[in-house]
Amino acid sequence: MTDTYIQNLFAERIGGRQYGKSSAIYKFEKIKRAKRAALAANPGAEIIDMGVGEPDEMAFPEVIEELGREAREPDNRGYADNGDAQLKEAAARYLERVCGVPGINPETEVIHSIGSKAALSILPAAFINPGDYVLMTTPGYPVFGTHSKYYGGAVHQLPLTEANHFLPDLNSVPAPVLEKAKVLVLNYPNNPTGASASPEFFVKVVDFARQHRLIVIHDAAYAALVFEGKPLSFLATPGAKEVSVELHSTSKSFNMTGWRCGFVAGNELLVKAYGDVKDNTDSGQFLAIQHAAAYCFDHPEITERIAAKYSRRMDSLVQVLRQAGFNARKPSGSFFLYVKAPKAARPKNGTRIEFKSAEEVSQWLITEKLISTVPWDDAGPYLRFSVTFIAQNPGEEKRVLDEVRQRMEGTQFEF
Ligand SMILES: Cc1ncc(COP(=O)(O)O)c(C=O)c1O
Repeated sequence: MTDTYIQNLFAERIGGRQYGKSSAIYKFEKIKRAKRAALAANPGAEIIDMGVGEPDEMAFPEVIEELGREAREPDNRGYADNGDAQLKEAAARYLERVCGVPGINPETEVIHSIGSKAALSILPAAFINPGDYVLMTTPGYPVFGTHSKYYGGAVHQLPLTEANHFLPDLNSVPAPVLEKAKVLVLNYPNNPTGASASPEFFVKVVDFARQHRLIVIHDAAYAALVFEGKPLSFLATPGAKEVSVELHSTSKSFNMTGWRCGFVAGNELLVKAYGDVKDNTDSGQFLAIQHAAAYCFDHPEITERIAAKYSRRMDSLVQVLRQAGFNARKPSGSFFLYVKAPKAARPKNGTRIEFKSAEEVSQWLITEKLISTVPWDDAGPYLRFSVTFIAQNPGEEKRVLDEVRQRMEGTQFEF
């Protein structure tokens, strides 16, 4: 096909004149293709999908009912813009009751989001000028960095390693980068490592932010999915509200990824700036959805039930993987189990297969074992197993995990 003039009109940030011409295949597309090929080679077989980053269940029935009721309210029909009081007030109550963060002013210190992804794509517009740096953890959820680069900013990656308990080494940032840095983006419990932060680490972050005049964006998408104790909010750290906003979402905590609703809370001026850009970006989430989300934030026992399910699945998966030789340890939250990828596998027939990367392991697991995971090679080769695989009840969960055990049996992995 010959190019039309359209080909010359793309912005450099998405590839300029080369837009759409690259034949590079990205990680998630490779996984999709490998799954398709594995199914074609094994018709009727069951792929066990441990790669999915979203809940396997629907929202709870009472939340769906709430949505139905609210959807019928004529007053909820129009543009929501930056939202009415319901979600803001529920968010402030939630932060106090569930996260131990008292005193959030719902009028000035909370605004809803159409999901945290949307908030992470909006926030850079408020802070990033060309040449500014953002400090982000790697591996990680890249959206804030991608948009920062769109605005001419640069990303300095802080590797998350086992040696540092998957917390960034803040002292590793070179002075010239720190001078130009404006924002530090954190996410705990973390995707993909499943690691949790500690209150002590958050105290260090507040000090670091003050010392280097940084804004902290804490992406708390998995904050409430904890297996023991209470969720840890960055905003519960003394002084945090002076330097940060925190992003909460109903997606993972309430099985509502498709509903697109969360909130941004914290420093009043930062929330205001988010609201100003948001006002020029979207017209707000449907009020009925916001009100159903408000219902959720007033019913944290829903999340506790979801977390208990993941905890149970995690216990079994850790056992299965340990039996297969992986150094799997149960995280304290999220639904991700992050394990070091093997260097080689020796199946029953004795042939030794060497892997150069986690991506190669993941491809092999799909092709040979019909088990899908997500590989990460950003800070050492690791595989992410999600306990969001589809299973309707504990009996079905057991069946799926027994199946994983059987498929792994007889293969020796070298690490
Ligand atoms: C770390 C992290 N942040 C944000 C999101 C997006 O959340 P939401 O559905 O609220 O946009 C995800 C989704 O996978 C995530 O893993």
